[in-house]
Amino acid sequence: MPHEADYDNLHLPSHIGIIMDGNGRWARQRNMIRTQGHLEGLKTAKKMVKAASDMGISYLSLYVFSTENWKRTADEVGFIMGLVKTHLRGEFDFYRENHIRIRHTGDPAGLPAEIAGELIKVCEDTRNFQGLTVVLALNYGGRDEIVRAVRRLTAKDGGEITEETIRRHLDNPDIPDPDLIIRTGGEFRTSNFLLWESAYAEYIISPKLWPDWTEDDLKSAIYEYQGRERKFGGIPV
Ligand code: FPP
Repeated sequence: MPHEADYDNLHLPSHIGIIMDGNGRWARQRNMIRTQGHLEGLKTAKKMVKAASDMGISYLSLYVFSTENWKRTADEVGFIMGLVKTHLRGEFDFYRENHIRIRHTGDPAGLPAEIAGELIKVCEDTRNFQGLTVVLALNYGGRDEIVRAVRRLTAKDGGEITEETIRRHLDNPDIPDPDLIIRTGGEFRTSNFLLWESAYAEYIISPKLWPDWTEDDLKSAIYEYQGRERKFGGIPV
């Protein structure tokens, strides 16, 4: 059984992605409405950002809202967007104190103008912070990101399409690929998260629902990751 206390803080994954699943089920288990689950999920997200920052992780990508999540009820979509807006507006001090830099991945054009505006502002306000970089995936789809990258590439260069030129036109080409992707809530799916970037990521699926996820769970996942042999398509050396 992996034990969180045993993780090696000298060989941390540089970039962790999290598919934060299970908010709705968490609420249903407690006879609450789904939005209560998202409220609790936001609290967990903040705790995990703090934990990752304290541990010295360099990059943390959080799957907040996918290009498919617009299919949910208008009430639920509106609630999540409201949460995101309040969070982005209200947490600057938290980011500053912890030297956290915020980045966005996803299509800003499909977001409500005020959310897109808040995102631009928080990315700008935190851009010189040197600690953890948190990448918020908002109106994000992995296929959509690849399509937008190819469009940018062909519009600008009219040049050669190679893995390297596509990679350079992704949303955050300066950020290294994720080493570890965690999915809570027990489903074995990528759900269109970081499709290009996750080519060689290790996956860890946790049965726990996102609002129940703790700092110790994050450390256990890192410990489990550290026990994996990464071969990148080659043979072990
Ligand atoms: C998946 O659970 C969760 C979401 C689609 C929303 C995630 C958003 C947050 C946790 C807020 C975080 C915000 C920031 C700014 C960090 P689900 O609703 O699909 O759960 P279910 O599978 O149990 O129905």
